[in-house]
Amino acid sequence: MDSMSLIVESHSEDDTRSLGRDLARHLRPGDVIALQGPLGAGKTRFVQAVAAACGCDRSFVVSPTFTLIHEYDGRIPVYHVDAYRLKSPEEFLDMGGGELLEGDGVCLVEWADRIAPLLPRDHLRIDMEVLGPEWRRCLLYGSGPHSQQIVGQLAADRGL
Ligand SMILES: Nc1ncnc2c1ncn2[C@@H]1O[C@H](COP(=O)(O)OP(=O)(O)OP(=O)(O)O)[C@@H](O)[C@H]1O
Ligand SMILES: [Mg+2]
Repeated sequence: MDSMSLIVESHSEDDTRSLGRDLARHLRPGDVIALQGPLGAGKTRFVQAVAAACGCDRSFVVSPTFTLIHEYDGRIPVYHVDAYRLKSPEEFLDMGGGELLEGDGVCLVEWADRIAPLLPRDHLRIDMEVLGPEWRRCLLYGSGPHSQQIVGQLAADRGL
């Protein structure tokens, strides 16, 4: 493994939530987290843990099509995008998605490959693999200096 990536094994929903809590401590406005992984991998659980740790206790849907974009109102705003049903990156831009990606808050995107061309050059990618009923493997990858720094901080949190 190199300094840009980190593998974190999760053996329960709580493990995944605690990774989300750890990540929240290192985030700042403008950060984009690109989540990949199959249905039921734990992407939404992870985002909810990040949002809660950012001091968000309630969310409201801000997208025209239901559940696509949630905004959480916390210490810093947290935007939660589920790109699963998006037909194209353009559709996301038409909904005002561009502002979320370069905005005043943290933006976490499920099925981020759907809007790959829109992601900032420096973003944190998290791929979740399903290895068993409760067993997940999360591969974190920093694509630029800032996200690599976050990966380094998460590694340090784990004594690595
Ligand atoms: N280690 C784990 N981490 C996260 N979730 C787990 C884990 N083990 C079991 N689960 C369960 O897996 C499910 C994950 O659901 P979640 O909605 O977060 O998935 P998702 O990746 O967002 O799926 P989708 O692509 O459909 O949005 C939950 O029911 C959760 O309880
Ligand atoms: Mg989900």
